[in-house]
Amino acid sequence: MNNFNFYNTTQIVFGKGQTKQLDKLVPKNAKILITYGGGSVYTNGVMDKVKAELVKSDRKIFEFGGIEPNPRFETLMKAVAICRDKKIDFLLAVGGGSVMDGTKFIAVAAVADEYIGKEEELLKFGFAGTPIENPLPLATVATLPATGSEMNSGAVITNGEDKLPFFNSKNFPRFSILDPEFTYTLPPKQVANGVIDTFVHTVEQYVTYPVDARFQDRTSEGILQTLFEIGAKTVNEPADYDARANLVWCSTMALNGLIGSGVPQDWSVHMIGHELTALYGLDHAQSLAIVLPAMWRFRQVEKSEKLIQFAERVLGITEGSDDYKINKAINMTETFFNELGAKTKLIDYGITETDVEKIIKALEKHGMTALSERGDVTLDISEQVLRMAL
Ligand code: NZQ
Ligand code: ZN
Repeated sequence: MNNFNFYNTTQIVFGKGQTKQLDKLVPKNAKILITYGGGSVYTNGVMDKVKAELVKSDRKIFEFGGIEPNPRFETLMKAVAICRDKKIDFLLAVGGGSVMDGTKFIAVAAVADEYIGKEEELLKFGFAGTPIENPLPLATVATLPATGSEMNSGAVITNGEDKLPFFNSKNFPRFSILDPEFTYTLPPKQVANGVIDTFVHTVEQYVTYPVDARFQDRTSEGILQTLFEIGAKTVNEPADYDARANLVWCSTMALNGLIGSGVPQDWSVHMIGHELTALYGLDHAQSLAIVLPAMWRFRQVEKSEKLIQFAERVLGITEGSDDYKINKAINMTETFFNELGAKTKLIDYGITETDVEKIIKALEKHGMTALSERGDVTLDISEQVLRMAL
């Protein structure tokens, strides 16, 4: 097992009716900005439940709506202006990954006095993290199980055609309320997206190469088995509480640092996927469903030991040659995505051979030239993977 430094400060409050805890969890005299997206939290009643608790104490409550999927810098800057103007001291994100991520940027930019007027520069720090010591405290009421943003310190922010990782080690939500019932109103496509994003987060930290990290491997395998078990059910039967609760908890656990501690991590599928979203508007998980099968087919030799482990332990493929196990596991994964309703080829979105060069140029611009657990996915390999995904 590799050395690691596991740090996570988010309190998780999970289950039906847990918004009732909000009055206890949010400081009594807070000047709070509630952030949300395009309005789903108003139509499904989540916002009413949130506010009903917050008004129980003497808080000043402000709102900022309109954070779009793949949150944009210029939108978030409008919320930053409100924070400065109203002297907001607590942020509550009510929504999916985009709202939670956007709120993490707001938390940093609102206090980054040395960056006033040049906040775009905060997007240049990438995975290294912004050097802002005390971002505004934030918390979340999560409504879409997918990104893990409710229990990590990361975000992804879009600026023009750039979709950029945004980190700050102090940006862990203080708490996150995870009520699976709040996710019942998600359209089937978004639930499928959540299953696929959670799946790909898990395998980016598991299907690499072995380092004898047994707890991490078996926890990842537990998440993947759960997703195979409940994936289709929770897409087709949205109000089945237990299936949905299992998805919600798997999503959170897949990207809160636990399964990634002490193991090699890949993330090449995500980095290529981000370019597809930025250039062609695919949903985050739609992009992953295309890139993952092609990446595995192309790199099956480098990933052979863990692909065989995945085939045997997660999918129960114990007969046949190693090649047979690997290919069957990849095919079963692609079929799983298809059965959830996701497409797995670029052409399904009208992206053709002539687009490949543009995607590769974007990867180059963003420094994504040595991806994967071994840093061996060069631009040339990314190009071949994209061609395989056509
Ligand atoms: O905007 P509203 O009206 O709320 O509608 C949203 C949005 O249209 C809707 N929705 C959310 N909860 C709902 C609901 N509709 C009905 N009922 C509900 N309960 O769903 C749509 C998509 O929402 P969004 O937040 O964009 O989806 P998701 O949670 O998949 O987040 C995607 C973003 O997260 C980033 C992605 O790149 C993308 O920008 N990621 C963040 C990560 C992180 N912070 O660690 C890691 C991920 O790999 C990912 O990159
Ligand atoms: Zn993801």
